[in-house]
Amino acid sequence: MFYFIDMQREKILEKLLSSKKIVFFTGAGISAESGIPTFRGEGGLWKKFKPEELANFNAFIKNPELVWEWYQYRRKIVKNAEPNLGHKTIALMQKYFDVTVVTQNVDNLHIRAGSNLVHELHGNIEKNYCIKCKKRYDYVDFNDDDKISKCECGGLIRPDVVWFGEMLPQVQFSNSENAAKNCDMIFVVGTSFLVYPAADIPIKAKISGKFLVEINLEETELTRFADVSLFGSAGIILPQLLIEFEKIKLNV
Ligand code: OAD
Repeated sequence: MFYFIDMQREKILEKLLSSKKIVFFTGAGISAESGIPTFRGEGGLWKKFKPEELANFNAFIKNPELVWEWYQYRRKIVKNAEPNLGHKTIALMQKYFDVTVVTQNVDNLHIRAGSNLVHELHGNIEKNYCIKCKKRYDYVDFNDDDKISKCECGGLIRPDVVWFGEMLPQVQFSNSENAAKNCDMIFVVGTSFLVYPAADIPIKAKISGKFLVEINLEETELTRFADVSLFGSAGIILPQLLIEFEKIKLNV
């Protein structure tokens, strides 16, 4: 039927044609083509910086200025970045499917690309809150100031991201679990699949019989569970899939 497409993509297209609800579970790799560094692998943030000094609550209490400066550095990268073709294709898919995005990313790019239903499992780097009175602050409240601000109550203001050792936001997590349980297929895009409990979501989808497609530059821990793995850039593969799907669906 799809003689011009390789067998792996043919399987995905056949499944897409009979699907209504799709989950995209994404990681840092989907934002790599927007110029946002990933965490692991070549050029990854955890190659240059130490998570134990920057991404946990004790580190923040010990050296709030350093942690704040690091998040301001990352916020500036995010602020100057634009959603790429990967994010945009996922948003375009909403024309044909009920799409839920479950992301480990804190960069807001899925929302900026136009995805309507996004569960942020690790928080959002543009948001902050006071550790004492919980008052919320947006990035714009600090602009590009690298010096940490204090809340009017005197408490330290921290980024609204999940640090190592912290719980994931429960509502976001259970909404993500439900989306994975109730979808027709799940795409897992640009994640090394090493960080739990987020990584439980695709595994639960797979256990409940969902068709799982992985898109990554390389093999991961998830590859052996995937129905299909496509290796390459998300910003190339996702638009190709959408074009191939539209050709068949719209009969052009
Ligand atoms: P990682 O940096 O661990 O993995 C990024 C993955 O994306 C790797 O498997 C790459 O091969 C792949 N990749 C890179 N560029 C790509 C591209 N253009 N297209 C497709 N794939 C590409 O990032 P995550 O798996 O998201 O947690 O990391 C998970 C969590 O670990 C993060 O949310 C963060 C980090 O510590 C917290 O901050 C709590």
